[in-house]
Amino acid sequence: MTVDLVLKDGIFIENGRETIRSVAIEAGKIEGIYKHGEEPQRRDVIDCRGLYILPGLIDIHVHLRDLKQTDKEDFESGTMAAAAGGVTTVVDMPNSDPPVLDKKTLDEKIARAHESRHVNVGFYAGIPHIIEDFDVQMLRDILGLKVYPHTPLEKETKYDKNRIRDCMKLARASEIPLLFHPESTAMRKIPRDMEEFFLSHSCESEVNSLQSFIDAKVEYEARLHVCHVSCAASARLVHKNRAEDTLTAEVTPHHLFLSGGDFTHEDGLAKMLPPLRSPHDNLMLLEALTQNCAIDCVATDHAPHKKWEKTAPFLKASSGIPGLETVLPIMLTEVFEKRMSWIDYLRVCCSAPARILGLESKGILTKGYDADIVLARIQERTISGKEFYSKAKITPFEGRRVLARTVSTIVGGNVVFRDGEFVLGPGIAGMVPVHKS
Ligand code: DOR
Ligand code: ZN
Ligand code: ZN
Repeated sequence: MTVDLVLKDGIFIENGRETIRSVAIEAGKIEGIYKHGEEPQRRDVIDCRGLYILPGLIDIHVHLRDLKQTDKEDFESGTMAAAAGGVTTVVDMPNSDPPVLDKKTLDEKIARAHESRHVNVGFYAGIPHIIEDFDVQMLRDILGLKVYPHTPLEKETKYDKNRIRDCMKLARASEIPLLFHPESTAMRKIPRDMEEFFLSHSCESEVNSLQSFIDAKVEYEARLHVCHVSCAASARLVHKNRAEDTLTAEVTPHHLFLSGGDFTHEDGLAKMLPPLRSPHDNLMLLEALTQNCAIDCVATDHAPHKKWEKTAPFLKASSGIPGLETVLPIMLTEVFEKRMSWIDYLRVCCSAPARILGLESKGILTKGYDADIVLARIQERTISGKEFYSKAKITPFEGRRVLARTVSTIVGGNVVFRDGEFVLGPGIAGMVPVHKS
């Protein structure tokens, strides 16, 4: 048989160990993994000697800012950032302008993403203030429901017990996860100074919110996914309440590897919600991710803002940082410096996020799975925001030494990014929207 493409003689991870293999791709899927000399005939070949052949990352938490905030990011720049970063699937959050609360907005976003995509794009929807207004037609095209207790998508919404119960019931009936940003509504107010800011976004607030959602989850048996766990205490709470896959959690690279003390208090550059915590939290989160598996996966919370919004004084600065172009080098550096095993890397960056959202043919490089692949090499360099394809070029990881670079990215068997260049126009490769298998 003649296949479309062979990625030849790259470094492939088999049972957690590096070995030399070739990956054959046919009709967008992995046709097989071969030893040297056993590859099938092919129409095209990429010499992968010296390169790692890895599954593309699956980032289940990004804000790509279409439709009306395209000065911050849009599906084209955001998915270019993903492809250049080695992320082959992104799932877009609904807190956009306008927010995704109805089918019309969702359909507009899907159309925009479809024509400008460079990678696979999935979607979440928010839940309208009047829950009965939720259009079940949206369920066909979304992977989860997202709620923000602290900053609801409609101002009049309050996340009291009844609201949480109704959201859980909707998620359960819809057979998709309810994702939530753990912050307590009780603390909601506009901070007048730094102290109030950190008080209203404290670990206590995160833990209280988490507890109220976990209590409701137990009662209504919904699938609950906790976004960006930032504190050791919340990781412990998730660990205590884990049962099968009905409670899952993610952590961002910035909450794993940066702490508040790394930045001056006035610095809007590192302002994000939840805020950076302590070095102790960093350590406990890494342990929760790799030792006790309380936290399932890494997600970037890619939240682009304009330069002036990030350079404003802290209280006025916008919360959020870009993450799509830093996640792979940061996580692979953990592997190359032997602080993380290949098994953990592949689970937390690729297979676990696919599992959480039910993407059964993604996240693993094996026969029959989608050919969403990144070729990466070991290269010592420092992170530089000005190299980003994202419109947001300010990162708190600026100047950080890393040991890896994305060389090429393949999405559904199409080479999108090759040797550091985009070789395919927008709107050609990638599924939009990504559906549950
Ligand atoms: O820092 C953040 N930025 N946290 C969020 O939860 C939202 C995000 C955004 O949309 O900018
Ligand atoms: Zn959030
Ligand atoms: Zn977010």
